[in-house]
Amino acid sequence: MAESLMGLKRSHRCAELSVANVGEEVTVMGWVQKQRNKGGIIFVDLRDRSGILQLIFEESDCGSESFAKAEKMRSEFVVAVTGIVEKRSGAVNENLKTGEIEIRVKSARVLAEAETPPFPIESESKTKEEMRLKYRFLDLRRPDLQQKLILRSKIVTAMRNFMANEGFLEIETPILCRSTPEGARDYLVPSRVHPGNFYALPQSPQIFKQLLMCSGYDRYFQIAKCFRDEDLRADRQPEFTQADMELSFVDMEDVMDVNERLIQHVCKEAIGLDVQLPLPRMPWQEAMDRFGSDKPDTRFGMELVNVSEVVKDCGFGVFTGALEAGGSVRGINVKGQGAMPRKKIDALVDMAKGSGAKGLAYLCIGEDGSIKSSFTKFMTEEQVAALIKAMDGENGDLLLFAADKNTIVWSVLGQLRLELGKQLELYDENQFNFLWVTEFPLLEWSEEENRFMAMHHPFTMPMEEDWQYIDSDPGRVRAKAYDIVLNGTELGGGSVRIHQNDIQEKMFEALGITQEKAWEKFGYLLSAFKYGVPPHAGLAYGVDRFVMLLTHADSIREVIAFPKVKDASDLMCEAPNVVDMEQLDELGIAIVQPEEADAAEE
Ligand code: AMO
Ligand code: AMP
Repeated sequence: MAESLMGLKRSHRCAELSVANVGEEVTVMGWVQKQRNKGGIIFVDLRDRSGILQLIFEESDCGSESFAKAEKMRSEFVVAVTGIVEKRSGAVNENLKTGEIEIRVKSARVLAEAETPPFPIESESKTKEEMRLKYRFLDLRRPDLQQKLILRSKIVTAMRNFMANEGFLEIETPILCRSTPEGARDYLVPSRVHPGNFYALPQSPQIFKQLLMCSGYDRYFQIAKCFRDEDLRADRQPEFTQADMELSFVDMEDVMDVNERLIQHVCKEAIGLDVQLPLPRMPWQEAMDRFGSDKPDTRFGMELVNVSEVVKDCGFGVFTGALEAGGSVRGINVKGQGAMPRKKIDALVDMAKGSGAKGLAYLCIGEDGSIKSSFTKFMTEEQVAALIKAMDGENGDLLLFAADKNTIVWSVLGQLRLELGKQLELYDENQFNFLWVTEFPLLEWSEEENRFMAMHHPFTMPMEEDWQYIDSDPGRVRAKAYDIVLNGTELGGGSVRIHQNDIQEKMFEALGITQEKAWEKFGYLLSAFKYGVPPHAGLAYGVDRFVMLLTHADSIREVIAFPKVKDASDLMCEAPNVVDMEQLDELGIAIVQPEEADAAEE
């Protein structure tokens, strides 16, 4: 039977107690982790968000009524006890923060009974994630998950404090709005009052924060929910949180400076990590050439080497063909893996194909200098020697090569490098390598759309020295955009914004957006720019990703209280779901089943 508190107050959380409290009378409340009945003596492990504490019940101390309650206690019962802190009578438990003490209970209350949970509440659960997410309210009791969410709260608090101290104002922007320009698919919300019209959920507060700059708020900050209907991955959710900021009267250096200090502050406050400033910077081109990625993991080497010049006259058609088509041939040297079994190499080839390669050429150098390779038969001995030299190849090394368009070569070798780095444990999990990636291309050619697209978004400022090429060679123009990368993950990104009308018009033109279309989509921003716009710039972090990396979580779902799974559904509340017919009628919405839609099309 469930009892009430009736005025009883908790004096401490479980793990706040230590030998310093020995002799004190305390009241603790929490969930029963485990009950062990040893006859005349009952041990109960009590758990709350701070940790676990051992309770000891003996009838002579707590009376028959409380002892009877202890006999009935099962895992996950919610109980309150009052008792005296003592040094442990038995062995000290080194694994517990409270391992040196126990509470000799004087009185106990059962505040709620509990059914046996569908899986044990313990750290490093072996239960399938699907099951855990269905019962997320129980999963969230697990100590490792609780520690991650506690750290998340610390990180956000540290951010808020820092930003407030730097003169940023926290301002909320709408969730029901018009389509924003981040380039993913929108989530739409139908309007009841305006049948046939829809709100879009914000992909980011981008336009609103720029408007706030036009309105003179100077320095804006927000912990903002963002929504993007895109394919989910381990570091992506359809609904995620940004720490979003915008500053007026600044250039790139100012934004980077404030953010470096923010990162330093947050890492120190949250995990006691000392981050050395200034953070290293790398232009986008260098990142692609050396790491095959615009978010390089710089914790280990195995950098890409461009061997196009070395192989341009060789007899291997795969290489020369790629070069003739305007591509490149690049390789990585997997040090000391020359004896990798054929099966493992084949798996790497398959992986390369999975990321778009037509193949992967390999060259194994034996410890005795002998060579096994898929392509050296097409080359002279001198050409092979030159290639090995260009790759810094030594006896015992494995060399892997990709030949294709640059974008494919980068992506294939970049991914192989990451996979091999992980498999071969080439980096220290506890190292945190922050890196700015700068000088991004302003525009990126889209094969699908057959036009240039904004790499960041259409309001990103070009670099002054490159603007002259906007008509003759648009792909050459670099942007005043910057990403902050941590251990190979993009933590955040931002840019200096265009605040000059002529540049913005030209930018829309380069993107193939007509003036009419631009005004139709972003008219309110363009209009605001006509009435006095300060130079401004900003940046946004993915808070979930920040927490994920600082807590060494395997997935973004581990740092979000109620996350969604791969198909964007919430397994606990079963969202999305059908709604009442009346609700749809009110909105003027009729559902067309996919089969019906297909039939109608035919
Ligand atoms: P961007 O689109 O780069 O920039 O987003 C900023 C950061 O948000 C995080 N992020 C995500 N996190 C989880 N799930 C997702 N689906 C997801 N998508 C993005 C990333 C990313 O670096 N308005 C601009 C910022 C600016 O220019 O000021 C913007 O949204 O960590
Ligand atoms: P093939 O002549 O197609 O049998 O290929 C010979 C070797 O070159 C095999 O090891 C292929 O995996 C590899 N290969 C094929 N296409 C490419 C490519 N685009 N880049 C690198 N290696 C390739």
